[in-house]
Amino acid sequence: MDVAAILHQLGVPLTEYAGSDLAVCSPIDGSQIASLRCHTQAEVQASMAQAAEAFTAWRDVPAPQRGTLVRLFGEALRVLKEPLARLVTMECGKILEEARGEVQEMIDMCDFAVGLSRQLYGLTIASERPEHSMQETWLPLGPIGVITAFNFPVAVWSWNAALALVCGDPVVWKPSEKTPLTALACQAIFAQACRRYPQTTGHTLPEGLLHVLRGGAEVGDWVVTDTRLPLISATGSCRMGRIIAPKVAARLGRSLLELGGNNAVVVSDQANLSVALPAILFGAVGTCGQRCTTIRRVIAHVGIYDELLQRLKTAYHRIATQHIGNPLDAGTLVGPLIDQAAFEAMQKALDAARQQGGSVFFGERVSAAAYPQAYYVTPALVQIPTQVAIVCTETFAPILYVMPYTSLDEAIAIHNAVPQGLASAIFTTDLHEAEQFKRRSDCGIVNVNIGTSGAEIGGAFGGEKDTGGGREAGSDAWKTYMRRHTSTTYYGTTPPALAQGIKFEVE
Ligand code: UN1
Repeated sequence: MDVAAILHQLGVPLTEYAGSDLAVCSPIDGSQIASLRCHTQAEVQASMAQAAEAFTAWRDVPAPQRGTLVRLFGEALRVLKEPLARLVTMECGKILEEARGEVQEMIDMCDFAVGLSRQLYGLTIASERPEHSMQETWLPLGPIGVITAFNFPVAVWSWNAALALVCGDPVVWKPSEKTPLTALACQAIFAQACRRYPQTTGHTLPEGLLHVLRGGAEVGDWVVTDTRLPLISATGSCRMGRIIAPKVAARLGRSLLELGGNNAVVVSDQANLSVALPAILFGAVGTCGQRCTTIRRVIAHVGIYDELLQRLKTAYHRIATQHIGNPLDAGTLVGPLIDQAAFEAMQKALDAARQQGGSVFFGERVSAAAYPQAYYVTPALVQIPTQVAIVCTETFAPILYVMPYTSLDEAIAIHNAVPQGLASAIFTTDLHEAEQFKRRSDCGIVNVNIGTSGAEIGGAFGGEKDTGGGREAGSDAWKTYMRRHTSTTYYGTTPPALAQGIKFEVE
């Protein structure tokens, strides 16, 4: 694992960031791969001031030209996809194949944003008054604060950054303290795009369109409370959201929250199990259960419950014996958990599941002799008769609870009876069941015959209830990164009429 060589290839001047404040460890073997200096409050203040200054220039650059910068960034990502993916794997432990997918998601997001840079459409509204015209126009909002989690250390930032930049907004990014190196790599790749911008467009670029802040919760707090950032987009746990949201609200800022999920799939007796099974496996054990979209619950019809459980057990056994290991190795499907705390939380949840009536299969630590400082586990399968308290809790680890149901109404009631509302799916060949589920699932993402994770960037991504209500990436998520004004113009030559037919005439 040659982290230094990869950082060099990505253009990261690591020595500039070196210090003794923040140790960065690889979850692959627990070894320290870097040690960084954190930003001081004065430095964070300086970044904010520079971002605010950059905004005053960037907002006036025509949006399609802003899109050119994002296009150059996407081009650089294409060239550096492989080393960036390797760094993602080394720093957060997801398998290389998924890390490549994560970088691909960034590239796709750049393409989307470049197209969008020519489509920031407003409205023409019919005025009720003669010789009046009404328009709604979208304008840049200001520097955007972006807070991201360890599990998608680069893609989720890119959802925000690509939109923010074409919308005319600089970005101040506070990545997870567990994954600062991938953020520094993005900063270096972005700097490359910035260097190419003048020769491509013939225009200069304002300094400071992207700031990557190194540090922990304290630095996050400086970001969240800074009134120069009109929008805070934060991805993380519901607990984190509950801390951030009131702070942003207290200064009447806008927040975009993408918090926890407790995603379920309903498997009907009308399902094609050959379709359902691989989808459930990818959704439940992929990324070692550390996606916000991970499948955590299966609600299976009693008619197929035993068969599905049996097939899942067989597949989980195969995964446990053949596919757990170093995420850089081909053939590995499940890499390590991020750290010891994640492992302990998983074991605690499994103990609770046993106490609350569950039968737990797999879920134990493996490879401890080879990797004493790293936490590899076999994904756990929990057969549980009802949706007890532990099932309603999101544990960020590969634990899949399997519960039976008899009617679709009951399945949907179980499905919706958790605090989170991110992603959901039904497996069925029955159109009526599929449509019923699509209308009644309370999640932001509702799939039919595919799993809950691995969303494309073209759709708006996010969920309801404790998931926080935010929407990122595709569709019209860009509107959150802009402000709108409504503008009415009177082009007549006689005194204008008032709206609502009001007469107000001074003699
Ligand atoms: C996350 O885990 O925070 O849909 C994001 C997915 C990915 C994004 C997950 N495209 O699973």
